[in-house]
Amino acid sequence: MDDGEDPVSALLARAVGRYRSGEISLAADLFRQTLALESFNAVASHQLGLIAFAQGDAGAAVGLLQRAVEADPGNAEYRNNMGVVLDAIGERVSARGAFERALALDASFAQAANNLGSVLEKLGDPPAAIESYHRALAVDPAFVEARDNLVLACAKSAPPWHFPMMSDRPRNAAYAAALARAAPGRRVLDIGAGSGLLAMIAARAGASGVTTCEMVPAVAARAAAVIAANGFAEQVKLSARRSTELEIGRDLEQRAEVLVTEIFASGVLSEEILPTLEDARERLLTPDAAIIPRRAAAVGYLIGGPAIEAQLFAPSWAGFDLAPFDQLAPLKLGLHLDRLPHQPMSEDFEIFGFDLTQDRFTAERRTLTVRATTSGRCAGVAQWLRLDLDAEARYDNRPRRDAGPNGWMHVLYRFPRVIDLAAGEAVELLASHNRTALTVTLSH
Ligand SMILES: C[S@@+](CC[C@H](N)C(=O)[O-])C[C@H]1O[C@@H](n2cnc3c(N)ncnc32)[C@H](O)[C@@H]1O
Repeated sequence: MDDGEDPVSALLARAVGRYRSGEISLAADLFRQTLALESFNAVASHQLGLIAFAQGDAGAAVGLLQRAVEADPGNAEYRNNMGVVLDAIGERVSARGAFERALALDASFAQAANNLGSVLEKLGDPPAAIESYHRALAVDPAFVEARDNLVLACAKSAPPWHFPMMSDRPRNAAYAAALARAAPGRRVLDIGAGSGLLAMIAARAGASGVTTCEMVPAVAARAAAVIAANGFAEQVKLSARRSTELEIGRDLEQRAEVLVTEIFASGVLSEEILPTLEDARERLLTPDAAIIPRRAAAVGYLIGGPAIEAQLFAPSWAGFDLAPFDQLAPLKLGLHLDRLPHQPMSEDFEIFGFDLTQDRFTAERRTLTVRATTSGRCAGVAQWLRLDLDAEARYDNRPRRDAGPNGWMHVLYRFPRVIDLAAGEAVELLASHNRTALTVTLSH
């Protein structure tokens, strides 16, 4: 001990030294001796708390960290570590409080902001979690863990197709054209707000009122921000709910006279457009409400080409036959065909068309006879989406080389085997849907 140095400081210095050199049990002894001399020593309590936690004794860790916090209430690191331990033992609300306190003490504490984001996700508040990860990254843009957490949280809430979808000018224009005809003076319901774009288009077109709903909380929070930023907060009412949970009198004043929606999956049905429309028709719309789009269809052509076969079938290579792996092959694969070389092998044909103004939709199964327009090896059917917004406005995402950004993929339906076709030869296909998914294959 240096002359004049007090015994507590000397013990602490030795303890910290041992701790840093990895001699944890010696360090723990010295920290305990420190506490024996000064029972409210913050550093010793904190370090012993961390050691207890690392050794699996979270209960002791909480007690020790609590003493550290009481001894030094202005220390953000102690609060943050307390939050980590509380989170680990499932005390999520208290953990959130500890992280919030750490951030109140030190607004630039990136680790605490990241930890807060993580506990907010566990507490079921993705919008606040995403905000917290952004906060961590604003302080430290290269904070890998916060970036990964943000990537995952955004992917869970908002699939990346939202972005090219918003930039799909033909799609937006087709909806805007139909809304310009249908919305003026009418009450509009928009199912699936996303960014709020369609609801704002309806409002700007002169709707007497617009209600929109969004079932993903983080997306709803962004829609609210977008709608407010564009000055439509008065005209557009947003409910952060699934459409099936909307109620007249709470979310809508009266039944809507126009329904606009864009909840179409690449394979048309899997975002549950049909059950959603049945529910809306029954509970939320006037009997003669206009539906935008009024018709949706899955359209396709026979497809072949080496790049397509490579996506769907295991090859032979250098004398190795990999075909047994085909048991795991994708029967249905979403990809962008716009710039993927491939051979259309038939005229376009409609696989299924849906009159969206109907009250009820039933599962269907049909056979289709399609004639090959070219000879060659055919691997399956390529499918895209066609929407008739109203009698005049139509949109489709048929594969085209000059396609701009759009959110939908094309869907490849794989045949059980590659077939050789001669031009003019007929192929019999079997198509079916169960209201929420659609498939097409060779009929035999
Ligand atoms: C394809 S995006 C369209 C967004 C926006 N309407 C547009 O066209 O730019 C569909 C959005 O609807 C939401 N959604 C899907 N089904 C819904 C439902 N039944 N009720 C509320 N939101 C729904 C999804 O979470 C997603 O954000």
